[in-house]
Amino acid sequence: VPVSVSCGLVRDKRGKIIGVLAVARDVSERKRAEEEIKRLNVDLQRRAAELSTANQELEAFAYSVSHDLRAPLRSIGGFSQAVLKRYASQLDAQGQNYLQRVCAASQRMAELIEDLLTLSRVTRAELRRGPVDLSALVAAVAAELRQGQPERQVEVVIADGLVTTGDARLLQAVLENLLGNAWKFTSKSDPARIEFGHTIVDGQPTYFVRDNGVGFDMGYADKLFGPFQRLHSADEFEGTGIGLATVQRIIRRHGGRVWAEGEVDQGATFYFTL
Ligand SMILES: Nc1ncnc2c1ncn2[C@@H]1O[C@H](COP(=O)(O)OP(=O)(O)OP(=O)(O)O)[C@@H](O)[C@H]1O
Ligand SMILES: [Mg+2]
Repeated sequence: VPVSVSCGLVRDKRGKIIGVLAVARDVSERKRAEEEIKRLNVDLQRRAAELSTANQELEAFAYSVSHDLRAPLRSIGGFSQAVLKRYASQLDAQGQNYLQRVCAASQRMAELIEDLLTLSRVTRAELRRGPVDLSALVAAVAAELRQGQPERQVEVVIADGLVTTGDARLLQAVLENLLGNAWKFTSKSDPARIEFGHTIVDGQPTYFVRDNGVGFDMGYADKLFGPFQRLHSADEFEGTGIGLATVQRIIRRHGGRVWAEGEVDQGATFYFTL
């Protein structure tokens, strides 16, 4: 029987040792519980390894499928284009219109495939950790956005000196997506305002990108991060819906989490930890 023994000295009033007290406890129950926990842990580790392998295989599969779809798609697009150019005179207006739609659809599908491949690369690329000046990155991304649309008046407020550790290239992609969204979804706000800052949520240092744009319905807050999930139509705001899926993957790879708060017509805030 496994026992745990504890001993102590027994003294009289003056502190003289008059005896030894030993207590032996039957700990077979605890031992059994410990062994059970050990077994469960080994089991859990094995399952986690299996899951990770399965995930990697799925990723590789998605990558090669997307990759291989490009060649036949190029043929569809290329040959429809060729027919449109060379045989336009033999086609009536409706025939030309159909072919134009084939071209447009294959173009669109090519964009979706490119997005999927980019997403896949984000998950597979190795993390290269180092110091990253998030404030400087945000400033650079904002400058780029301004250059792309100099006619827009957007107030960008950036908290100073927010430096962290992570993969600079991937964190830049995160900020490009979050700020790109804030920029896009404030296009109808006057004055438009975007803020990058730092706060503490549940004791964790947390970064956020806040805007005063069109916002969204909180009922769909989790959906936003799924690939190709969009709450706004493409004619209203352009995009394919891959940005936030990319953001989520990058943040998860850094061991953090990302979430959103918003309200229709009241702007949106995207939070992330690292
Ligand atoms: N700042 C924001 N304000 C309001 N809605 C947003 C904001 N950011 C994202 N969303 C909502 O989440 C959806 C998904 O965002 P995501 O960045 O993944 O896609 P996208 O911007 O539409 O396209 P892409 O990023 O691929 O160009 C958006 O279509 C929009 O409905
Ligand atoms: Mg986006």
